[in-house]
Amino acid sequence: MLTELKVPERLLLGPGPANVDPRVLRAMATPVIGHLDPAFIRVMDETIQYLRQVWRTQNRLTVPLSATGSGGMEAVMVNLLEPGDEVVVGICGLFGQRMADVAARAGARVRTVEAPWGRPLDPEQFEKALRERPAKVVAFVHGETSTGVLQPVEPIVEIARRYGALVVADCVTSLGSVPVEVDRWGLDAAYSCSQKGLGAPPGMAPVTFSERALEVIRSRKTKVQSWYLDLNLLMGYWSGETVTERVYHHTAPIAMIYALREALRIVLEEGLENRWERIRRVHEAFVAGIEAMGLEMLVEKPYRLAPLNTVKVPPGVDAAAVQRRLLEMDIEIAGGFGPLKGQIWRIGLMGYNAQPKNVFTVLSALEMALREQGYPVSPGLGPAAAAAALKG
Ligand SMILES: Cc1ncc(COP(=O)(O)O)c(C=O)c1O
Repeated sequence: MLTELKVPERLLLGPGPANVDPRVLRAMATPVIGHLDPAFIRVMDETIQYLRQVWRTQNRLTVPLSATGSGGMEAVMVNLLEPGDEVVVGICGLFGQRMADVAARAGARVRTVEAPWGRPLDPEQFEKALRERPAKVVAFVHGETSTGVLQPVEPIVEIARRYGALVVADCVTSLGSVPVEVDRWGLDAAYSCSQKGLGAPPGMAPVTFSERALEVIRSRKTKVQSWYLDLNLLMGYWSGETVTERVYHHTAPIAMIYALREALRIVLEEGLENRWERIRRVHEAFVAGIEAMGLEMLVEKPYRLAPLNTVKVPPGVDAAAVQRRLLEMDIEIAGGFGPLKGQIWRIGLMGYNAQPKNVFTVLSALEMALREQGYPVSPGLGPAAAAAALKG
């Protein structure tokens, strides 16, 4: 018996993917045309224009890669680094660790600057590392999804510049949810994903490179070891001046580019500042609810990543059982990784999902699941505090 594809309808309040805006799903049903069709090239160009606005950059090399966020990370590392190059990577969570791993696989000599999970990196540590020995690249995660920390960017960029290093930021969980200012901050390369702040399905990795970074890529002594992610080749497809100059590289995932284009159009229609403000308000309402329930956030207020809330699991409560209970109510939240396993819940209110109704839903469900485990909380306390915060 060949059964029809059937999956439950879930409210996706984990670290991503978030729910997809229905407009994006409709755009994906647009007829597929050829990846070198002049009509599709126009769609590509519009997508790039929208992307530049969302990244707040004039960078010529701004494209969506046919990959997930990890593919964006890999593309940045393998294009900028050659064997033996020095790189300093900041690690205060899982994705910093992944960056260091990817850089080492590219043959770079990796030094790390570390902070405990749940705390931001200390810029002074980068200064110390660079003073000891210069590096070609300084890399760190802007929004560390494993801990819910938002890393202040400008102090690290200032130090890296003084020591002549290129600066790479992982913006997988920050783009489309909190301010990302590629040009104003002076980032040399950044990558993101489609499935979080932008509100599309997973599958595209927007990347952007400064002119300095582009020069480094163009003047490499060795070939990029990945054919698929070699930007020298990809540029021929994405950045030809005219339609006839575009050279086939790989078959673009047409429907995903329709999706990304529509997702970016929605972001720009809302306005970046309005979107950041909406997500901040929803985050603050959520935190007010959590605190009213007697729970605590993992991260200190100034470093909280608004789209991804990390809540400490109270003593005596089984974190995984609460997650399972919420899933029975069709609400997905996530737990912690590594040292934070069983210690925190990760609750995403990102992009399209950052809506007051989702705050009330998840707080009510959490209250119910906690009460079932004997945690003392009066029904309605969390949602009432969130409602008051939204009014105030
Ligand atoms: C900060 C960060 N970097 C990189 C990634 C990897 O992205 P993907 O899972 O889309 O490959 C993620 C995924 O959640 C992430 O949160």
